[in-house]
Amino acid sequence: MKPKHEARSTKHDNHNPVMLAEVIKNLQPKNGEIYLDGTFGAGGYSRAILESANCKVFAVDRDESVKKFAENLQKKFGERFVFLCGKFSESKKLLAEKNVAKLDGMVFDIGVSSMQLDDKERGFSFDSDAKLDMRMDRNSHPSAYEIVNEAGEEELARIIREFGEEPKARQIAKRIVAVRAAKPITSCRDLAEIVRSLYRGYSKTDAATRTFQALRIFVNRELDELKSALASSLTLLKQGGRLIVVSFHSLEDGIVKNFLKKEAGLTQTFSRYQPVIAKQNSPKNFHIITKSAISPSREETVQNPRARSSKMRVAVKI
Ligand SMILES: C[S@@+](CC[C@H](N)C(=O)[O-])C[C@H]1O[C@@H](n2cnc3c(N)ncnc32)[C@H](O)[C@@H]1O
Repeated sequence: MKPKHEARSTKHDNHNPVMLAEVIKNLQPKNGEIYLDGTFGAGGYSRAILESANCKVFAVDRDESVKKFAENLQKKFGERFVFLCGKFSESKKLLAEKNVAKLDGMVFDIGVSSMQLDDKERGFSFDSDAKLDMRMDRNSHPSAYEIVNEAGEEELARIIREFGEEPKARQIAKRIVAVRAAKPITSCRDLAEIVRSLYRGYSKTDAATRTFQALRIFVNRELDELKSALASSLTLLKQGGRLIVVSFHSLEDGIVKNFLKKEAGLTQTFSRYQPVIAKQNSPKNFHIITKSAISPSREETVQNPRARSSKMRVAVKI
């Protein structure tokens, strides 16, 4: 599985939450119901859910800087909207503190936001002179700077290969270790130049994209977070509750797809000519609505090219 790399790896611009219409259509918000928006960001999904029905939304984000958007929604929707600052892997605990144990729907829009990427000081972007950072939660550790300057060569190679699917991971790690022996690698641009120096010739995407993606995923433990969030849906969703996950690259989508397949009691047969079959005695916790992932419409990708690698999967709790 290859991630679809883009020069700027995010699926949003600030004003266009990806596949918003499809999210609302599949969530089917109803009066009196309770939803979790696990990745609040600028609040595009939360706002649309609250405008669709007289329901309640609990929104989680690990990035404190989104609080200003949460305050706007609180002003508009009052008690129907509650913002919880934290990781979505901790949603169960955060909701329990508000005496909520069960939900009618959970929505996740996985990955980095355009606001995070475009704010050069956050150190996500490879065309920035800012210090390497990449933490969605600026109180967490380690930062990308710490990893790039402190991790061993083997560890660096593993991170870049595993989370970036970078074919030159070993060479990049070696070059990083050689360069930092003289002086620390401080800025995003410095790191990008090191990676680019190992590539010659024209490529559609910047050679540094895969390494930056790998570091960001590692710094924020993004894949473990996703696995925990999916697991929590098993206990948090009511029967009939809906799970919607919008992901950006194939590493994430693969996790969502495999989780749903397992929890729907489906397993792939070894023959490509046989359909997916239900395994006897395997769990049946979800009914999958999206047999194949939904992609954004052509209109959306024309309007918001960053959305084009997104995939949405939907399932209903049984
Ligand atoms: C792609 S943006 C979401 C955009 C949002 N749907 C909107 O309409 O504005 C992803 C957001 O999720 C947050 N996030 C990513 N991983 C998280 C995690 N494990 N726990 C909590 N928030 C997370 C990021 O900080 C970011 O603000």
